[in-house]
Amino acid sequence: RILIVDFGSQVTQLIARRVRESGVYSEIHPFNKVTAESLKAFAPKAIILSGGPASVTEATTPRAHEAIFTLGVPVLGICYGQQTMCAQLGGKVEGSDHREFGRAFVDIVDDCALFHGVWAKGGREQVWMSHGDRVTQLPPGFRAVGTSEGAPFAAIADDARRFYAVQFHPEVVHTPHGAQLLHNFTHRVAGCSGDWTMRAFKDHAIETVRRQVGSGRVICGLSGGVDSSVVAALLHEAIGSQLTCVFVDHGLMRANEADQVVTVFRDRFNIKLVHKDASDLFLGKLAGKTDPEEKRKIIGATFIDVFEEEARKVGGADFLAQGTLYPDVIESVSFTGGPSVTIKSHHNVGGLPDRMNMKLVEPLRELFKDEVRALGRELGLPDEMVGRHPFPGPGLAIRIPGQEITRERLEILRKADAVYLDEIRKAGLYDAIWQAFAVLLPVRTVGVMGDSRSYDYACALRAVTSTDGMTADFYPFPHDFLARVANRIINEVKGINRVTYDITSKPPGTIEWE
Ligand code: XMP
Repeated sequence: RILIVDFGSQVTQLIARRVRESGVYSEIHPFNKVTAESLKAFAPKAIILSGGPASVTEATTPRAHEAIFTLGVPVLGICYGQQTMCAQLGGKVEGSDHREFGRAFVDIVDDCALFHGVWAKGGREQVWMSHGDRVTQLPPGFRAVGTSEGAPFAAIADDARRFYAVQFHPEVVHTPHGAQLLHNFTHRVAGCSGDWTMRAFKDHAIETVRRQVGSGRVICGLSGGVDSSVVAALLHEAIGSQLTCVFVDHGLMRANEADQVVTVFRDRFNIKLVHKDASDLFLGKLAGKTDPEEKRKIIGATFIDVFEEEARKVGGADFLAQGTLYPDVIESVSFTGGPSVTIKSHHNVGGLPDRMNMKLVEPLRELFKDEVRALGRELGLPDEMVGRHPFPGPGLAIRIPGQEITRERLEILRKADAVYLDEIRKAGLYDAIWQAFAVLLPVRTVGVMGDSRSYDYACALRAVTSTDGMTADFYPFPHDFLARVANRIINEVKGINRVTYDITSKPPGTIEWE
């Protein structure tokens, strides 16, 4: 296993992710928690020093524990990790006017174990840099293997001690061969076998939850989405009957979704599940409301009220379990410190723990979405649940833009949406799409059906590809596919007589219509 020493970089978790991808277990420990004893106890096969925001040129900034360099295991320093490594081993680091941020190029001046199979002497390789300071003199024993305009020692190696260091960030995707460099470090240099899997992560996560929770009681809000479903299944396996799940059914779910949640969790997994049908309450509060932000606020606040009441009814709990993922963690940390504009106030249960005075259990905090899906499969959740497209907290309420949310409109939308998704699945396209859904438009249009005139709703179909929901492209369906879906919707869904396809990308559009 690998120890990652964290100096506070925004992307330290990406190092862990790459190491996991190479089939090796790793843990991230903050630099100031590393001691000679903890190193001995953890017994890492290798150590990676992360980047960080500080400057080695100042005396009081973080350093790697000296014992790291005397343990006899390989060490890889990245960015700040490289700088502190060099400074501590007898080299020199200086501030520089030539800062490098973003894409940069490294000239490979010598071969080295890190580059095996991807980079060779004489090559010029693209990397991602983010630094002001740089190493200006190598510590004894090191040689330069890569150099860039802003960093004369962009990659260095001491083969005898198996110490390597790079100024660039191999863990981000903008360094195209970065993952292979890390793979070379864990496998070729450190000799890890690469047989670690999601199953091992699961066992570890279960142990961690047990230790954190002890004999305490845990409550978990279940929505039927991927993240909360995986949290519930994991906690169930870890602490069994100490867990109660509360499913606040706001009546704004897609067709059959509420039933599926109850079937899977109560019947198949045998989890203690409170299913609160609060659709009357939600629809009552939404009556007459058409403003998107107002709808989101009403749904968010009502959700918290109902959840709190149901939690009280089951006797409360010591912990609240949440499906926070790593991207949520980074997004909540402001990169610039400046205020950012709210485009949409996403609804989540963020206000709950404070109000209910509960501690948080967040077993997915280190994972990315695709890893959560793999963990869900490992836990035995059905494929259609873990592979499901993201679905917004406010549900169908934000897919009926510009008009009041009524049961009748919800029913029409559900039917159209179900036909659309059915065709997408049949065409084998579901997994190639990030999100696909129907939107019920606030216009009625004239049509002709049989011999008579119709005057019904128009609906829009949306499908996008995306990697994180931050940017998106519309999905280029073949015309005959769109024609088939439109035909089926108009024939099968009473209330809709016209179908359009949305070809807006994000930006400038957003994925949802409101
Ligand atoms: P937009 O529409 O902002 O959506 O491009 C980006 C992603 O976020 C989802 N979304 C929401 N999720 N509460 C949520 O939990 C919300 O209020 C909300 N609004 C949008 C959207 O479905 C897409 O995946």
